[in-house]
Amino acid sequence: MIKVGVLGAKGRMGSLVGQTVRSAADLELTAEADVGDSRDPLRGCDVVVDFTSPAAVMENLAWCVRSGLNTVVGTSGFDGARLAEAADVVHGGTDTTGAAAASRPRVLVVPNFSVGAVLMMTFAAQAARFFESAEIVELHHAGKVDAPSGTSARTAAMIAVARSAAGLGPGPDATTTQLDGARGAVVDGVHVHSVRLAGLVAHQEVLLGGHGETLTIRHDSLDRASFMPGVLVAVRGIASLPPGLTVGLDSLLGLA
Ligand SMILES: NC(=O)c1ccc[n+]([C@@H]2O[C@H](COP(=O)([O-])OP(=O)(O)OC[C@H]3O[C@@H](n4cnc5c(N)ncnc54)[C@H](O)[C@@H]3O)[C@@H](O)[C@H]2O)c1
Repeated sequence: MIKVGVLGAKGRMGSLVGQTVRSAADLELTAEADVGDSRDPLRGCDVVVDFTSPAAVMENLAWCVRSGLNTVVGTSGFDGARLAEAADVVHGGTDTTGAAAASRPRVLVVPNFSVGAVLMMTFAAQAARFFESAEIVELHHAGKVDAPSGTSARTAAMIAVARSAAGLGPGPDATTTQLDGARGAVVDGVHVHSVRLAGLVAHQEVLLGGHGETLTIRHDSLDRASFMPGVLVAVRGIASLPPGLTVGLDSLLGLA
């Protein structure tokens, strides 16, 4: 039985994780905490899942690492700078080899738990080297507090790595005048456009353009339930990861 704790347990994602864990025969929901609750009951868990907010997650993560707890982080906002900060928290700025490193907890930061979204990112990275242009449109419900989404930032980073390996420079763009934000945010050289609209859940299009053709890779999360199979993969698989920080579900899904 894997003992699971949830941070952000009263939220949309945290409460669904609680229900999902309760209904899995090999998992036990041992502790739930939200704002104002003590985190102490989480100490007895094999793995803690954090679905809180970008403002709260780093303090929670530091506490989990100090407590030696394997931690799955679903909260968004992990751009390059924040991932570097997380690596610092996890590795403590110390030796990354030897006994101290081996006893370090595992921290798995997952920008998107949807298996379809993970595949969309993989396919986008595979395709990116063949097209001179690549832009991302991410569309989310109006309650999302951060933009661009963690998924789009990670997709942009993966596309940038693929483009750089293929020797591709910036995409063609003749824009000389624009209103602020009209061309979106630029993440690792890739333009990312964020839509916030009532009625949506989580959606993303990766637009690739070349000579006389375009390729669009689109993923839609239509219900938060789409994230739960990935959460289960993370909760069940985190102990098999190397100690320290891992980003993305790819290795647990056999895609890395
Ligand atoms: N990785 C993914 O696949 C994925 C999928 C959906 C949402 N998200 C992200 O997960 C996060 C949560 O999303 P949500 O829709 O459930 O938000 P939400 O606002 O419904 O829930 C967040 C919960 O965290 C609680 N919280 C805030 N600070 C806390 C703290 N310090 N300690 C404990 N609890 C705290 C809040 O009270 C709230 O109940 C967001 O960052 C969202 O973008 C990620």
